[in-house]
Order: sequence, then structure tokens, then C-alpha cells
Amino acid sequence: MKIMHFLLISLLAFVFWDQSQTNAASNGAGRRPPMGWNSWNHFGCSVDENIVRGTADALLSTGLSRVGYEYVNIDDCWAEQNRDAQGNLVAKASKFPSGIKALADYVHSKGLKLGIYSDAGSYTCSKTMPGSLGHEQQDANTFASWGIDYLKYDNCFNGGIEARKRYPTMSEALMKSGRPIFYSMCEWGEQNPATWAPNIANSWRTTGDIQDNWDSITSRADQNNQWAAYAGPGGWNDPDMLEVGNGGMTIEEYRSHFSIWALMKAPLLIGCDVRTASQEITQIVGNKEVINVNQDLLGVQGTKVSQQGNLEVWAGPLTNKRVAVILWNRSSSTASITAQWQNIDLSSNVVVQARDLWAHRNLPTRLQGSLTSNVEPHACKMYILTPLYG
Ligand code: GAL
Repeated sequence: MKIMHFLLISLLAFVFWDQSQTNAASNGAGRRPPMGWNSWNHFGCSVDENIVRGTADALLSTGLSRVGYEYVNIDDCWAEQNRDAQGNLVAKASKFPSGIKALADYVHSKGLKLGIYSDAGSYTCSKTMPGSLGHEQQDANTFASWGIDYLKYDNCFNGGIEARKRYPTMSEALMKSGRPIFYSMCEWGEQNPATWAPNIANSWRTTGDIQDNWDSITSRADQNNQWAAYAGPGGWNDPDMLEVGNGGMTIEEYRSHFSIWALMKAPLLIGCDVRTASQEITQIVGNKEVINVNQDLLGVQGTKVSQQGNLEVWAGPLTNKRVAVILWNRSSSTASITAQWQNIDLSSNVVVQARDLWAHRNLPTRLQGSLTSNVEPHACKMYILTPLYG
């Protein structure tokens, strides 16, 4: 009897240990939304090792690494069309002649991390390189041996196999590779990944591909908003990478895009050419006060809390009972927008100090019950409210 008892307990212990080994939420990555850069939105398939090195240098020289940007992520088109004789992925010699390991060493020497891309299918979306379906462990081991820190895993050419079958396989392979690798699922939100990915991945796309225009960012924000309850430390909703600085939107639109992404606890992956970005652009993505909202350790995704036509209030809780609030004017004329305490989880008698995160100043008077401001078209105001008493 005692032996049976012992065997049963050992079996249970093994099962729990084994699960913890294969649960991405326990890989230690992504306790806060990841911050960094990705090649796709600006460079597409023309990414090469000079761009990657130059971007790592620029993250340091612009000061962006100091405010938290650490991942330098290579997207699609980095590999040769065919695997080698042993079935390994091979870096494309014409674009990455030094190889990925050398690039990882360079990026690490700057105190940054290197990310790479593959696909849960037979080819990646560009069809210029193989995908990892059926090669998960071999590819995860290759990535680990190169010193990769982040994997974006796409969804093209998947042979109609269920996402819920394909994505966990790479999650387990990464865990077994022995290197903590942030696992970013790029399944485009098709099978509602927020409901099943938190045990598998550190982030999951909730939308199709972003574009550098207003309709694209407003619709992506709304789609991502539905899944807020599923996000938290270790696993985040991903409404796709930033377009700030790519030239298709106004400065106010880019500021709105960045503010809402930060409040939604989205990954903050810069998608422009950091090497040549203007100061106006680096000041948007480098706004430390807005970044602090994104990186707040409470890790609760802010949501749309009220709406009158195109005038919206978004808000979410922060540590120390503070509240982050955005007044977002999605209309085409200047308008007054009000956040009511009852909509942002504050009791009506609470008095707050409000700090404007874009003006970098505290509002001169303390507020009770509501906060109102005029907001320009397609612009937003973003605040942190700190309760004083009440
Ligand atoms: C898409 C993905 C993009 C980019 C592209 C590369 O499926 O959503 O973010 O990675 O593939 O081909």
C-alpha cells in the first residue's frame, strides 16, 4: 500500500514538473510587455545584417535602449530557400554573410537581445525560406545555439492543420532547447488565441497585419480591446508592431497610436528605421512616462471604458492605486472629452492629482469626479491619476 502511495505521488510530481517545463508562461520571459524593434514594417524582405547592426547601434545612440528597448528582431526573409544536408536552417549568405550567431554576439555585446522569425507551416509568408512545421525541435535548438532571445512564429502555408496543434509544438521545443526564448505567436487572431495561448506563448497576435494609416490603427485597437481580460504578466495581447515614424500618419496620429498601444500593454516593437528617425519620432517612442504605463508591474491591459460617437475614454489600473487615462478624439474636429470617475474605477469622492504624460506636467488643480479636456482631431491626451484622499 505504502509503495503504491509513493508511486502515485511520484507520478503526480513528475506530471506537474513536466507541465511546468513546457508552459511558456513559466519560461521567465515577458513578465512585462516586450520592447524593441522589428525589421518588417519598414524593410520587409530587404533586411540584412548591416541594417540589424546599425539598428542596434542606433538604439544605443538615440537613448532608446536606456528607456527599455532591448529586442532587435529580424523578421521574414533571413534564410536561404533550402535547408542544409542535415536539415538545418541556413542564414542567407547574400544578406547575412557573417551568420546569425555573429549577429547575436554583436547585439549581445551592446547589452541588447536578438530576435528571429519562423513559421508554423512549410514556408514563411514571403515563401523565400522554409517554415519550421515538422522541424520544430531542430530549429529551436538551432536558435538556442545561436543565442536567439525571441521567436516570432507566423502562420502561412500551414496545410490546414489546426493552430492549436501547431503552436504548442514550438512552445515545447523552445522550452526543451534550454534557452529562455520569448515566444511570440503570430496567428493573426484567427482562432481567438487569447483564450488558449496564455499557457503556450508570451504574446499572441489578435489581428491581421497593421498598416501605416489611421483606419488600420483604430480598428486594430478595437479588435485587441476585446481580449483584455486574457492578458497579464508572462502573456500579452499583440495588436501588431508600431508604425510610428514610417511616414503615413501625422504626428498626432502617431502619438495616439503609441499611447493606446502602451495602455493596452501591447508589445512596443518599433517598426521604423531607427538609424534615420527624426527627433520628433524618437521623442514619441522614447516618452518614458508613457512607457512606464506600458511596463507597470500590475500588468493589467487598459480598455475602452466609454464612448460618445468618435470621442472615447480608455483607462486601466496601475500599481499604487493609480489610474492611466486616455482621452482619444477619433473624430475630425477638435472636441471636449470627459472621463468620469465612475467609468474608470474611482469612487466619486476620490481627489486626484493628474499628470499629463505628453506635456510632462501636473495639472494645476486637483480633480474630483471627472477630468475634462479639449482634444485635437485624431489626437489624444494621456494622464496618470494619483489618488490623494477620499
Ligand atoms: C505576416 C506577419 C507580418 C510579417 C509577414 C512576413 O504574416 O503578420 O507581421 O511577419 O508575415 O512575411
